[in-house]
Amino acid sequence: MPASDGHAEHVAQALAQAVAALNGAADVESLRRLANEHTGKGSVLIGLKSSLGAIADVETRKAAGRAINEAMQSIEALVAQRLTGLERAAAASAAAGEAMDLTEHLAARSRGHAHIVTQAWERLEDVFVGMGFKVAEGPEVETDFHNFTALNMPPDHPARSGFDTLFVKHGAPGSNLLRTHTSPVQIRVMQEWDLPIYAVMPGRVFRRDTPDATHMPVFHQIEGLVVDKGITFAHLAGTIEAFTKAFFGSDFTSRLRPNYFPFTEPSAEFDVRSANGKWIELGGCGMVHPNVLRAGGVDPEVYTGFAFGFGIDRMAKERHNVADLRDMYANDLRFVRQF
Ligand code: DAH
Repeated sequence: MPASDGHAEHVAQALAQAVAALNGAADVESLRRLANEHTGKGSVLIGLKSSLGAIADVETRKAAGRAINEAMQSIEALVAQRLTGLERAAAASAAAGEAMDLTEHLAARSRGHAHIVTQAWERLEDVFVGMGFKVAEGPEVETDFHNFTALNMPPDHPARSGFDTLFVKHGAPGSNLLRTHTSPVQIRVMQEWDLPIYAVMPGRVFRRDTPDATHMPVFHQIEGLVVDKGITFAHLAGTIEAFTKAFFGSDFTSRLRPNYFPFTEPSAEFDVRSANGKWIELGGCGMVHPNVLRAGGVDPEVYTGFAFGFGIDRMAKERHNVADLRDMYANDLRFVRQF
């Protein structure tokens, strides 16, 4: 090819080819390779440059040299621009590949629900709060005094042996224990609150029992305590009946049967009857024994009161027709998801 012959077209053509090739480069590595191919040793443009000397006319030669330089510069500019773009894209895709998508399962995730005992516990609180009661809680590790002595069960009282107590190694042997019922909270509330008292006290309780269909060594109770002037057994019976209808529905009724508890006198067992006539034994109740009022710092000559206590687990069991209490604590999702 004579150098003077169509030199400008050759430069333009080489530039066009270089631009097309570089624009087609898919990654940094091929961009570098193509840049070298079109501007490095052995490239068309370098070839044209070395043939410049053959152009006789000085002006033509200068113009041709300028054209080659310009072509080189625009190729370099394009390479630099594409390089930035490709590097940015590579960084973005690397980041996307390494990122942990923490929201991935959010949409599909099940939020779960409260345990059926927790549901019963909260509904019981709601019903009693609606009846004007306040909610109190006491410690799960109790003193012998609160759990027994203050509840009219002095040391050696035969009723103590019915509680299958778990003692803790703290203080004098036998002085501290895992509370066997929520009744000790009665004492704490009487000692700490101003009179009159209308309180419910839900909580976890413990007994040395082997788990079976109807017993667990850890279970839940809710205690009730009313202390005011002029409180009679009629208030107790009326409260139990009002609670029964509010919690179970208006087609349920309650009954009281004589029983014995050391902390109440007289004492009763209370049952509720569903619409289909089935009686369910719920818990104990009675008029607070004068010794218990005294232990709580209340003058039994001025104040009287009633108390009740029943198991929450049993209520959840009855409500949801669970055959075996142990299923409620096995955390088997096939069981849990039914509620
Ligand atoms: N604390 C008793 C128990 O666990 C239940 C009970 C009975 C509570 C009579 C009371 C009551 O407040 O008056 O077996």
